Amino acid sequence: MSVFNPTSVSPQAGAGLARKVSPQAAARRARQRWWQLNAPMTDWSGRRVWLVGASSGIGLACAQALRAAGALVLISARNPQGVTAWAAQDSAVQWWPMDVTDPGQVQAVARAILAEGPLDLVVYAAGYYRAQRATALNLDELLAHDRVNYQGALQVLAAVLPGLLAQQHGHISLLSSVAGWRGLPNGLGYGPTKAALTHLAETLYMDVQDQGLGVSVVSPGFVATPLTAQNDFAMPALLTPEQAARAMLRGWARGQFDIHFPHRFTLWLKLLRLLPYRLYFPLVRRFTGL
Ligand SMILES: NC(=O)c1ccc[n+]([C@@H]2O[C@H](COP(=O)([O-])OP(=O)(O)OC[C@H]3O[C@@H](n4cnc5c(N)ncnc54)[C@H](OP(=O)(O)O)[C@@H]3O)[C@@H](O)[C@H]2O)c1
Repeated sequence: MSVFNPTSVSPQAGAGLARKVSPQAAARRARQRWWQLNAPMTDWSGRRVWLVGASSGIGLACAQALRAAGALVLISARNPQGVTAWAAQDSAVQWWPMDVTDPGQVQAVARAILAEGPLDLVVYAAGYYRAQRATALNLDELLAHDRVNYQGALQVLAAVLPGLLAQQHGHISLLSSVAGWRGLPNGLGYGPTKAALTHLAETLYMDVQDQGLGVSVVSPGFVATPLTAQNDFAMPALLTPEQAARAMLRGWARGQFDIHFPHRFTLWLKLLRLLPYRLYFPLVRRFTGL
């Protein structure tokens, strides 16, 4: 078994990697401001965007905002009801049914989409959430979170990345959550999958930034969607899916890697992240009452 050991990577190996910057990537990087981690995406006219998990909620609102800005949107999920009437009226909206837990379906849809032309943006928005605490552990539910939220993202990544690397252009945006920033009560199934997604995006960014690709991780606070409709508490700083979509387009336009919103909520959570566990645990228990 080969184990990654950072100390075993020689400086020569690093130099070899650095030399592999593609000319397109170098030209794009030269146009970026120093604070922008990605090439800003502002002109959506004619852009092809694949949104996975966009039959409702944030993904659907995002597809609508991108379409309104001129993009061609390719939408995948299992249930078409939020999309079919819209796709029937507008030829720049395409419905590509797909279950992210079925690797064969993911490969086939990605292959067909890439065969029709290059992709400018892939958004992974598929998500599954059920509140769960360790005092009532349900393994099937835990694994269901992993299959949709994390393994599904891996399936999509594996299906599109070779094509994006070959075209030396494109951006991958993963819908994570502030729930992945640190452990929270009720997040036994959901939180770890979102932490994994954020980690995945960070690692992905470092691996592909020199290949002309962009990567961003989106961490919303609370957004009123079918996913959060089950919450039986008052959700602080609750946004509409349309507000969430606007924040995402703003983040992409600014070339951000870490797109989080609303700041009146997420900046407090960023602060909580810095606290030592001795303070973090009692504070969170006091805020949540759990
Ligand atoms: N709402 C929030 O407050 C909030 C906060 C932070 C992060 N997020 C994240 O934002 C993303 C979107 O969630 P949302 O709030 O907009 O909830 P949502 O309306 O329930 O959307 C979830 C989407 O995932 C799709 N999906 C679920 N299982 C799938 C599968 N096996 N294969 C393909 N697609 C699947 C659903 O479509 P089908 O059921 O038709 O397949 C739906 O389009 C999720 O990743 C969620 O974790 C949400």
